[in-house]
Amino acid sequence: MGEISAIDRLRGELLHLRSLDRDEARTMPPDFYTSQAFQDLEKEELFRKEWICIGHAGEIPEPGDFYTTELVGEQLLVARDHDGVVRVLSNVCRHRGNLVAQGSGNRRSFVCGYHAWTYDLDGTLKTAPLMKSVKAFDPAKCTLPQMNCEIWSNFIFVNLDGQAAPLAPQLGRLDAILHNYHDEQRNLLFSEEALWNTNWKNLTENFMEGYHLFATHPTTLQPMTPTHLCRKVAGDDRWTAYRSYYAPDFPPRGPFHPDMTEDEQRNTVLFNIFPSFVVAVAANYTLYLCLRPAGADRVAIRWGVAGFKTDAQDAEVVNYVALCKAFNEEDRAKLETLQQAQNTRYFPHGPLGPEDLEGTIWDFLQYMAGRLGQPAPLPAG
Ligand code: FES
Ligand SMILES: [Fe+2]
Repeated sequence: MGEISAIDRLRGELLHLRSLDRDEARTMPPDFYTSQAFQDLEKEELFRKEWICIGHAGEIPEPGDFYTTELVGEQLLVARDHDGVVRVLSNVCRHRGNLVAQGSGNRRSFVCGYHAWTYDLDGTLKTAPLMKSVKAFDPAKCTLPQMNCEIWSNFIFVNLDGQAAPLAPQLGRLDAILHNYHDEQRNLLFSEEALWNTNWKNLTENFMEGYHLFATHPTTLQPMTPTHLCRKVAGDDRWTAYRSYYAPDFPPRGPFHPDMTEDEQRNTVLFNIFPSFVVAVAANYTLYLCLRPAGADRVAIRWGVAGFKTDAQDAEVVNYVALCKAFNEEDRAKLETLQQAQNTRYFPHGPLGPEDLEGTIWDFLQYMAGRLGQPAPLPAG
């Protein structure tokens, strides 16, 4: 009698989740977070097909600014050209396929270090030494491929397969919720890259649930945004969100944008644009994490903080970034033990908490089910 593969079983389980009512909401089995085969499926079906946030436009404010990154193995070059247009280019040289650029910085053009082919900021090939006599060489065919790219609220999204519908029109309801916070007017004040030993979905779910605040962040977040004041926001098949209200005795988190209502001044909107972009827009600062899978048990995190201030060395900014680092470390510790525990065969799945606390996880799993759920084949034999 043949066995159903782990991947088919997980896809069948996802499909089953779609048939459950909210009051039956439960987690996925632990190998959803440990299976390399399932991650390979996610890479093909989600990370190549969806809009994935890979950074903040404030990382490359000036013409010629660039950074390099990677998404599901694709090497990417994110660059602002002479006219200020941001592009996401393939960072693979059209000669013999080496990396064109590395790290980040400012350039007038990109020179591949292997044989010095030189590309303009928009990816067109400018010069290729000693190639004139080569019949098969056509510079016009050597432009770096340009990925489908969209900037939404200062965040740079890429869609690798080029087939996704434009992103912004899908986020209208989220825009309305965020409008008065004016995230688009906030300046990037801090950003860095990190690697945690946990599956990208563990971190996505963790960022989006307020249940763990009292237990995991008793001295950092709980005094400011206590678990019992979390309130779910109705999302849709593109995103989910909740508001975490500030404790009544917590001092105001101004200065406030004049558009903000009293209610908005007292809560942070946390949202997940599926699959892997999670953001907390507080009254005064924005904290964001762009997540990329880096193995079934590792996640690459490009994260940062934006705000209305302009000086990254301002003491208040420095303190806020330090607070973010402190609660991130608290999360990391919990998510790395979670990853170890998920290798078990003795935990089928567990019940999810109340709507205001873990309803966002249910929304995320429903999204995953919509993309990857399918009937499990009958075992052969
Ligand atoms: S591989 Fe880039 S110039 Fe040869
Ligand atoms: Fe947390």
